[in-house]
Amino acid sequence: MIQSGLGLYIHIPWCEKKCPYCDFNAHALPVAHQLDPVLETRYLNQLLLDLDQDIETFGIAAELTSVFFGGGTPSLLSSRGLGFLLAEINKRLPITTTTECTLEANPGSSDHAKFVGYRAAGINRLSIGVQSFSNTALQRLGRTHTRSDARNAIDAARRAGFSNINLDLMHGLPGQTPDSAIADLDFAAQFAPEHLSWYQLTIEPNTVFYSTKPELPVESFLQAITDEGLDWLQSQGFARYEISAFARSDALQSQHNLTYWRFGDYLGIGAGGHGKLSRENTLLEIQRTQKTRVPKDYLNNPNRRVTEVPIQERPIEFLMNACRLVEGFALTDFEQATGLASKVLEAFIAKGTQQGLVSASSGRVTPTAAGLEFLDSLLLLA
Ligand SMILES: C[S@@+](CC[C@H](N)C(=O)[O-])C[C@H]1O[C@@H](n2cnc3c(N)ncnc32)[C@H](O)[C@@H]1O
Ligand code: SF4
Repeated sequence: MIQSGLGLYIHIPWCEKKCPYCDFNAHALPVAHQLDPVLETRYLNQLLLDLDQDIETFGIAAELTSVFFGGGTPSLLSSRGLGFLLAEINKRLPITTTTECTLEANPGSSDHAKFVGYRAAGINRLSIGVQSFSNTALQRLGRTHTRSDARNAIDAARRAGFSNINLDLMHGLPGQTPDSAIADLDFAAQFAPEHLSWYQLTIEPNTVFYSTKPELPVESFLQAITDEGLDWLQSQGFARYEISAFARSDALQSQHNLTYWRFGDYLGIGAGGHGKLSRENTLLEIQRTQKTRVPKDYLNNPNRRVTEVPIQERPIEFLMNACRLVEGFALTDFEQATGLASKVLEAFIAKGTQQGLVSASSGRVTPTAAGLEFLDSLLLLA
């Protein structure tokens, strides 16, 4: 039996251009500027085949709590294509009035008509990849959009009736100062977004920035940006609920991402899509799925790989997710999600408490501010 709640992640693997800092499964479009309609149709049909195979293998019959179109650049999809896909998904796994349906949109590939179509198709939350409102910073990041494209995309989303908007912003950018980082947040605030994702730029292997490192702000600047940014977010009513996620109210937290962080169940379809599913047999079985990463291979065969999460890896897998949350986790959540007794966490909790990285009381484990900042050190204790 699947645990309560089921998310669906749908990966769209193309972008207009690959950004030099990005290590997501994102590939430059085969034909510049637009997703060729023939390719779109083939991909959408393959997504449905992929979904049907997952449903059959895992015997799934559940309503969806969330659907998340991530990328890549999902806003390359036509609203007609998206409407077809959501209607077909709904025939298989019901999408209800309470299902959160998010789509990641790039400012460069978004306009009012498209957003109207997305809303009509059933998208009720947009996540717009702004990254920065500074044209200089955007250029250094190799983005194809400008500050005015970002503003137009957000305005268009509001005019199309979206009342649940997340803006992705990055900080710690080349040439950024604490003042310019706060200026980005200030600029974002004028759009009154319901949610902000505020990520520190990381330099990932296999990216252009890894081989040709840009000059990043010095450590004292990075620390000041983080400290001042967190203060700003709090003072403006954005409550932090995960390391990089801030919402205006509990109801506006990302339900889809909470499923990941709470070690819940989700299907993952599309090139390189990941899923995680658990079912009760005599013992709890937890399985991870992954699909073929390269789009042209995926179009031939989604080629699902299923791996069992062994008992000994469950605590660290759970903690890697749950310790990102400000609320932490209840020991009973751990037991339910992993099928293990919570006493296996005793040493972790004792060391974490001693080092000031977690606190534990009334059957709950909560990362401290230091634990959130030094998550890697905390996880080394597991
Ligand atoms: C899946 S990505 C793609 C969303 C969309 N294609 C875009 O780039 O606007 C989601 C977010 O991750 C963040 N991100 C991507 N690479 C990053 C990196 N190296 N360091 C920090 N944040 C990153 C960006 O804020 C991005 O909007
Ligand atoms: S647009 Fe987004 S997903 Fe695409 S390459 Fe850039 S950061 Fe990666």
